[in-house]
Amino acid sequence: MDTRSAAAAEVRGRNVVVVGTQWGDEGKGKVVDWLTDHAAGVVRFQGGHNAGHTLVINGVKTALQLIPSGIMRAGVACYIGNGVVVDPAHLLLEIARLEAAGLDVRSRLFLSESCPLILPFHVAVDKAREALRETSGAGKIGTTGKGIGPAYEDKVARRALRVQDLKHPERFARKLRELLALHNVALAGYLNSEALEFQPIFDHAMQMAEQLKPMMADVGVRIDAANRAGGSILFEGAQGTLLDIDHGTYPYVTSSNCVAGNAAAGSGVGPHLLHYMLGITKAYTTRVGSGPFPTELPMDEPGTVGYHLSTVGQERGTVTGRARRCGWLDGAALKRAMLINGITGLCMTKLDVLDGLDEIRMCVGYELHGERVDILPLDADEIVHCQPVYEVFPGWTEKTFGVTAWDDLPLNARCYLERVQEFIKTPIAMVSTGPDRDHTILLRHPYKD
Ligand code: GDP
Ligand code: IMO
Ligand code: MG
Repeated sequence: MDTRSAAAAEVRGRNVVVVGTQWGDEGKGKVVDWLTDHAAGVVRFQGGHNAGHTLVINGVKTALQLIPSGIMRAGVACYIGNGVVVDPAHLLLEIARLEAAGLDVRSRLFLSESCPLILPFHVAVDKAREALRETSGAGKIGTTGKGIGPAYEDKVARRALRVQDLKHPERFARKLRELLALHNVALAGYLNSEALEFQPIFDHAMQMAEQLKPMMADVGVRIDAANRAGGSILFEGAQGTLLDIDHGTYPYVTSSNCVAGNAAAGSGVGPHLLHYMLGITKAYTTRVGSGPFPTELPMDEPGTVGYHLSTVGQERGTVTGRARRCGWLDGAALKRAMLINGITGLCMTKLDVLDGLDEIRMCVGYELHGERVDILPLDADEIVHCQPVYEVFPGWTEKTFGVTAWDDLPLNARCYLERVQEFIKTPIAMVSTGPDRDHTILLRHPYKD
């Protein structure tokens, strides 16, 4: 067989990228888990254990932070791509937790050797900076305190310790000494914190290295091979488009690119492997941490819509336990997310949380300095001045919780969903009506249609 016919004989699997289109917590984990019965592998390509993806399978809840949501299906390979920042201590803890629940993790988890490491001084710097921002009056970003920002800073500054360094004790020691010295100047000097010692960090890292070595892999090569063998890959985004370092509400963002385009670079494969972009959107909006949020509602008063969304939606952060801020769906922000990600189809989650509301609203643009704007501005300082313009829909009294067929949804719910897809000019592929894997309505299958 010549090379041309060998290439023609290959039938690559179809791949799906799942990304959040809001400020995170859209229900990506649930949807990834649902789709994995069609996937040979799931890969995380950015972020770190700032993510919290909750899966509910037959009533049993599992919260994942760093390990891809494919881990809940036997036989699915899970990859941590080079774009992810890895806290080795957290990774081993998460593996141990899953193993205690009876899952086989180590034989099918592959860790890119190129991932930058999150080490104890990154966590210390993250927390100390937030404390300083608060006392200085600059205002907190509201980070998860996991060291994400400082770890990405070291990566971009070309001084990070990476997973591959764990295999070479002398190299690791040399780089660690230099990096720690740099961070200690900041910690003890102007962050009102304490310098950390070299030896305990080094000893712990070397101890963890032995456990991590068997999982280290060339992730790009493995994904490509699985895909060439016909296996479908699922790229699992973390955070959301509006938390993206470039496209989000800067500086109230995370430190990575959360958008679909980064799925290739963060996994070590080419963009030709990104076939279908599935955007996940809540039926309303939430945000954890600081930053502008045009459709935000007050949440404290029982009887108000904000209170309803927060309590019925159980809107508390998976990672930090903080209350999530809640508001109406922002269609003008969604338009921005459709554009940046090139969304093929949308999955709307948590429709059931709207059950029982008299009316439902969607923001279709803003009034900004007396002018009408129809897409979320890029300047966070301008977003603060955006007054949302709403379209109002009648609510429904029937329960949508657990509904699995489009025709079983109340007419008003269908009208709302149809108007959303018309407004953002993107078809709805799936609707989620409850946290469980089975609480799902399928309209167009991302792996088939
Ligand atoms: P992720 O970070 O995007 O994976 O989302 P999280 O897991 O942080 O937050 C979503 C929360 O909503 C989780 O507690 C899910 O179990 C839950 N959830 C997901 N889809 C639905 C749904 O359709 N209805 C309801 N009521 N809960 C859902
Ligand atoms: P998942 O994957 C919601 C937010 C933090 C903070 C900002 C920066 O579960 O959707 P960081 O620790 O990343 O430097 O914090 O980003 N944030 C999230 N909000 N869901 C997440 O992940 C988030 N990951 C980070 O609250 O506002
Ligand atoms: Mg989450």
